Formats: sequence, C-alpha cells, structure tokens
Amino acid sequence: MLPKFSSRVFLAPMAGVSDPALRLQCKKMGAGLVVTEFTSIHSIIAKEQQLKENKKTIQEFIKYSEKERPLSVQLFGSDLVALEKAAKIVEPFFDIIDYNMGCPAPHITQQMAGGALLQEVNLTRQIFSTLVSAVKKPVTLKIRSGVTDASRYLFKEIAQIAEDEGIQMITLHPRTVSQGYSGNADWKLIKELKEISDIPIVGNGDIKSPEDAKAMIDETGCDYVMVGRGAMGNPFLFEQIIDYLKTGTYKHYSLKDKLDSFFEYLHLTTEYDIKFSNIKSQAMRFTKGMIGGTKLRPKISSSKHITELEKIMNNAYTLSY
Ligand SMILES: Cc1cc2nc3c(=O)[nH]c(=O)nc-3n(C[C@H](O)[C@H](O)[C@H](O)COP(=O)(O)O)c2cc1C
Repeated sequence: MLPKFSSRVFLAPMAGVSDPALRLQCKKMGAGLVVTEFTSIHSIIAKEQQLKENKKTIQEFIKYSEKERPLSVQLFGSDLVALEKAAKIVEPFFDIIDYNMGCPAPHITQQMAGGALLQEVNLTRQIFSTLVSAVKKPVTLKIRSGVTDASRYLFKEIAQIAEDEGIQMITLHPRTVSQGYSGNADWKLIKELKEISDIPIVGNGDIKSPEDAKAMIDETGCDYVMVGRGAMGNPFLFEQIIDYLKTGTYKHYSLKDKLDSFFEYLHLTTEYDIKFSNIKSQAMRFTKGMIGGTKLRPKISSSKHITELEKIMNNAYTLSY
C-alpha cells in the first residue's frame, strides 16, 4: 500500500539537483513526497558489494535522512536479474520503489533504459512483474508520453500494463522522449491517463507557480502534482502551492529569503556527500531573478571552494535589498 502523503505536491527526481539537502528543504516546505535522483541498478549492485566488505549499507551510496519520509528511490536499468537484485538491496531503506521510464538522455536510452523502454511492450511487462514480485514495498512508475510525436500515445498501453502488473501509482510527464524539454507539456494527456486509470495519477510538467499547479489539477483531475524545475533554488513553491490550493492566496518571498534559503541549503549539505560542482549549480539557481544575478553567476561558477562561494553569496545580500 502507498504511504499517506502529507500534501498533493511532490518534488520531482532531478539528477544533480534533488540531492538530500534540497529534498529536505522541499519537505520542510510541505512536499508530500520526495524522490531520490535516479540510480542505476548496476551501480547499486556494484556499490553494495564494496560497502558490504566494509560492513556498510547502501545508505552510504544513496544518501538521505529519516526526515524525508515518505521517501521514494528511483531506479533505472532493464536487465531483469540485476533489477530484482537491486530492488531487494534498496527495499529495506525506502518507502516506495519508483521506476524510471522517461529519461531522454542518449547515454541512458542507448542502454535500453529510461524513455526508450516505452516502445518495448514485452520487456516493460517483464520489468514491472519482476519489480512487483521482488519487493513488498509499493512500486510506482514515472513515464513520458511516448518516444516520438507519432508514438505520443504509448503511455496509454504502458499504463494499462503497469496497472495489470501491480504498479501502484504513475507519474506522467507529457512530453515525448525526442522532444527533450522543448515545447510545452501536453496536459491533455494527463487528463486522458486519469480517465483510463484506477490508480493514483501524478501530473508533471511545466508547473512554475501556484496558479500552474491549480490549473493542472483543474484541467486534468490528477490526484497529485509533481514539481521539478520550478522548485530549483525555490523550495518555497511547495508552501505557496499548498496555500493557494487551500485559500486562493500565498506568501511571496523576497530575494533575501532566497539567499537565506541558500545558506540553509549549504548548511544541510555538510551532512551529505554532495559534490562542490553541484552545490555551485544550486547557488546559481538560488540567485535566479536577483538584480545583479547575471554578474554574480560567473563568480559563483569560477569559485574554487566553499568558503569562496560563501563569501560571494554573502556579498549578494547587498544586491537583494
Ligand atoms: C536537471 C534535471 C534532472 C532530471 N533528472 C531526473 C531523474 O533523475 N529522474 C526522472 O525521472 N526525471 C528526471 N528529470 C525530469 C523531471 O523529474 C521532470 O519530469 C521534468 O523536469 C518535468 O517537470 P518540470 O517541468 O516540473 O521540470 C530531470 C529533470 C531535470 C531538469
């Protein structure tokens, strides 16, 4: 059974972005569910072997905190034996096992994983049944609508198979794999999926404001919404969406609040093993929309260590008033 979610607004998995520090911030702002960055089933198996030798668990590889719960781990990779093994390794630590069938990046699709699987109906069925029988925790799925424009309705068949095989919730990002991030997410497809599904549907794509979230719910009838890029450097969006859905209004945050939030993020990163390059990218996102931000970003980008970055961000307070 799916855990109870504290809100209808979820944080999307984003490799290099939705690290445990940002996830925790979004959780504190009301995200009902957070999902790890996608992780290769083969890397889980290889890491577990190494970690076992040092009497450590996979938690050392996929970092998280208890405060994030309910927490979903996202897997990719289509080798059935490896999939079963990896799912069993991660199961004890996570509340949901999510499967990625949306990633459009060529290095993923070329290994018959991510969005490429949408056109592999038989393999897909085997993947779902392998996962569902490997673990007792709920298994969920995240998909794009299709591979090319001509196959943009593939999601319907895949969703039906997923439901038959015991997948408990589906997130649809209604762009095709070949579309990448261009054009708009076609929310009508979320509505169509909701109409043919008996399991909860999570709508995803292009939610950048509380108004967008409400519009997606109103237009599609989806059970939950998932926010990705809109939450980058902006964990406030969860609270704003939740308030807007409840009351029709929400609190606006200043650029100073955003900087404070970056420093909170920075503080949280010290507990996890987050690459400095990722922290710098997060710093850029937290300065989005800031007057003088365009001058600030090259400085952030060329900073060499945390203390230098902290100094640059501290100086940014003078820009935000
Ligand atoms: C930098 C980045 C990394 C992403 N990594 C993942 C990932 O690991 N797993 C996944 O299912 N989707 C990933 N996505 C896709 C998002 O989860 C989401 O489906 C997509 O960004 C559309 O939602 P949005 O318009 O709210 O950003 C990623 C997106 C971005 C921008």
